[in-house]
Amino acid sequence: MEWPPFDLQHHLEEHLTRVGRENCGFGEEFSAQVQLAPARFGDFQANGALAQGKRSQIPPRQLAQRWLEAVRGEEMFSPTRYELQVAGGGFLNIALSGQAMVEWLAAHGDGDALRRSARELDGRTCVVDFSSPNSAKQMHVGHLRSLVLGDAICRILEFFGARVIRDNHIGDWGTQFGILLRQMAREGVTLEEMEPEEGLKLLEGLYRRGFREVEESEEALREAREELVALQGGDRARLALWERINAISLAAFQQIYDLCSVHFDLVRGESCYRDSLDRVFRELLDCAIAEEDGGALAVFHRDHGRFCTQPFLIRKSDGASNYASSDLATVLYRVERLGADAILYAVDARQQDHFQQLFLTVERWFARMGYRLPELRHISFGTICGEDGRAIRTRSGEPIPLRQLFSEAIARALAIVEKKNPGLDGESRRRIARAVGVGAIKYGDLCQNRTSDYAFSWDRMLSFDGNTAPYLLYALARLHAIARHAPRELSNEAGEAISPIRDGEERALARKLLHFPTTLHQVLADFRPHLLCTYLYELAGEFSSFYAACRVIGPDRDESRRRLFLCSRTRTFLQLGLELLGLETLEQM
Ligand code: ARG
Repeated sequence: MEWPPFDLQHHLEEHLTRVGRENCGFGEEFSAQVQLAPARFGDFQANGALAQGKRSQIPPRQLAQRWLEAVRGEEMFSPTRYELQVAGGGFLNIALSGQAMVEWLAAHGDGDALRRSARELDGRTCVVDFSSPNSAKQMHVGHLRSLVLGDAICRILEFFGARVIRDNHIGDWGTQFGILLRQMAREGVTLEEMEPEEGLKLLEGLYRRGFREVEESEEALREAREELVALQGGDRARLALWERINAISLAAFQQIYDLCSVHFDLVRGESCYRDSLDRVFRELLDCAIAEEDGGALAVFHRDHGRFCTQPFLIRKSDGASNYASSDLATVLYRVERLGADAILYAVDARQQDHFQQLFLTVERWFARMGYRLPELRHISFGTICGEDGRAIRTRSGEPIPLRQLFSEAIARALAIVEKKNPGLDGESRRRIARAVGVGAIKYGDLCQNRTSDYAFSWDRMLSFDGNTAPYLLYALARLHAIARHAPRELSNEAGEAISPIRDGEERALARKLLHFPTTLHQVLADFRPHLLCTYLYELAGEFSSFYAACRVIGPDRDESRRRLFLCSRTRTFLQLGLELLGLETLEQM
């Protein structure tokens, strides 16, 4: 479909660039540089004439004027669609006509149409590695961001048509098991018939005590290492215990995933790759990428400054595999067996070195072997702090378990819902509290730029004002109510034409709606969902201003239909936006 295009900014960029190069002689270096414009300058602005002026030593305003005339000669830019103007030192201001706005909203405004329009990742297989906690430990607040961000990224990729494989890469093969198995033997623990939560607490205690012992005694440390080597060597009895530990851990993790409605397509822990490690070691040695030192294997990236002295250790001197070896084998699996075109890792910033070295190693290895190299991306993020700026902990100094965090959010939301709406029945109240509580935590995380640290604050997250989940969920519920109460004959179901958008609040709301695809592309470009949060918050704000200023159902049928149409589009976008962030939405609050 040539008109109206899904992403207007993209479309303008493409065609204004073409006109500048072909019809104005601006040359191949020229690009239109289209941006979203502040309202007083129209809907978009193109800044390309400024750079062109520098290159050619011609006043940019003069170039912009030449450009404008050439653009006006194009049928695509007819005045029924766009109003164009040269402004300031050589900007091209672009405003859509009220008619063009309606055409765009009619073509792209419902959720299914939006999904059909955004297909640029069609046929692309993306593996998203997220959550990925370590076995035998409760998930705590430190595991929140990967979970929430990873889920949102999957949804965005899916929206753009990708085939997404959500892979939970559990840490189930690491050194913790040597310590645990040793301690279990000493304390005679067998873990039979345990509730997941209770089991995990027991395991955490065992690990703590065991860890203290190996720290204090060489002998204990050696025993723990031997336990790990025996386990990794396939000892039956140890494997049986190890399986029980993992079953308990997974069941406990699943309770949290259920609570916040996140699902995985695959749960493949590090241990799933143990049989392909030999192939990894062999190939890396054959390609002379890994170097042997005693029994240990290391990869040096000598042309990368700080990795000269800090090699990528892929096998320990006792022959045990490690985190790095299984990550290497995992890439192979994802490419060969899952057909991955891209692999994304939602993991905190402290693992930056690990991923850089992993990616460098894979690049060299795959190039030497002639394997297809997927796109590899570390989607890194900062830390969640307490309101005092330090890591958040429980009173006894432990990180707060995620289960407790979500339960508390739901309890707090329930108290607010009961106060705001005492007439609700118990069942609805609980449903709303869950959506608001869980949503508040997810949104409170996603609305922060992922690369920054942020301070966790119940009051801010659960507030009904500002850039929060409760505010947006409430705005959406209000839009649902407007739709429910609208007379049927005014709805646009029959597809009868809508009159052009009027200037003022109608236009302000419509132009915000037009920017939705551009926002989604910005989110996709660098996996930053906070840009979508900001957008939705601003959209809700535009809607409030519109609703305060414009009577929706009035005596003029035409006007009422147009305004209801705007309400319905706002509802769709807000709903879709919140769904892409992984929030459960409500029709009533
Ligand atoms: N289990 C690791 C941890 O808790 C995170 C794993 C991330 N994924 C990966 N493929 N390395 O730190």
